[in-house]
Amino acid sequence: MMRNFQSSRIAVIGAGNIGGTLGKLWADAGHQVVFGAADPAAVDPLLAGIDGNAAAATVSVAIDKAAIVLVAIPFGAWPSFGNKNAARLADKVVIDATNPDPGRDGAIAEQALSSDDGSLLFVTEFAPAALLVKAFNTMQASVLRNQAHRAGAPLAYAIAGDHTDAVELVAQLVEDAGFDPVLVGNARTAKRFDRGTSVWNNPMTADELTKALDQSPT
Ligand SMILES: NC(=O)c1ccc[n+]([C@@H]2O[C@H](COP(=O)([O-])OP(=O)(O)OC[C@H]3O[C@@H](n4cnc5c(N)ncnc54)[C@H](OP(=O)(O)O)[C@@H]3O)[C@@H](O)[C@H]2O)c1
Repeated sequence: MMRNFQSSRIAVIGAGNIGGTLGKLWADAGHQVVFGAADPAAVDPLLAGIDGNAAAATVSVAIDKAAIVLVAIPFGAWPSFGNKNAARLADKVVIDATNPDPGRDGAIAEQALSSDDGSLLFVTEFAPAALLVKAFNTMQASVLRNQAHRAGAPLAYAIAGDHTDAVELVAQLVEDAGFDPVLVGNARTAKRFDRGTSVWNNPMTADELTKALDQSPT
């Protein structure tokens, strides 16, 4: 069954470099955005720089208000985030923009990077009933901020997930943010653009990214 997410609010969990930038891009594109933060008042400076429809709430309230959730927190925070919110994430499109970083996240990042399944299937344990999609993890926040809606061929984000309608929705959100989507495959294929792969932190157009993925290990 095709779900209707189109008119839904987006919860952005993590109002930092990636969440703050994407939330602004989506609000500018006409989406309703609610940032979820431990201290919603701390998001006020970010909200002051957004002309579109954006607000802040606690993490749980933000998720409850939305059908789409961007997770832009440190990878190492996934277990505690999932522990508190797995039930409320059920049946929502959950976009995982996190990267396992051993220097920041420790052993859990090492485990995810050495897993045959890649980082998206790794975090499924923390949000088992969510419609998980990997996206927005491959380019630095400065590129996201400065290259959105650029002149000429847009830069591209790789997308992977098991739920076709959720993947298609996230592809639209990539376009709304000012980039091209490249659909890679099911959740396991997120491994092909995880941290440390040749296409990670290597901004490319959709044609270039598609060719690079074709030449990379499957
Ligand atoms: N920075 C980049 O260029 C980049 C690019 C692609 C992907 N990523 C990935 O995106 C994620 C976010 O990176 P970032 O640079 O945006 O980080 P950041 O600027 O440090 O922001 C992280 C945000 O997550 C929040 N947070 C931390 N633990 C949380 C929890 N348990 N529940 C809810 N919110 C929590 C933090 O809130 P508090 O401040 O209140 O703790 C903060 O707002 C990381 O996984 C990173 O690897 C980053």
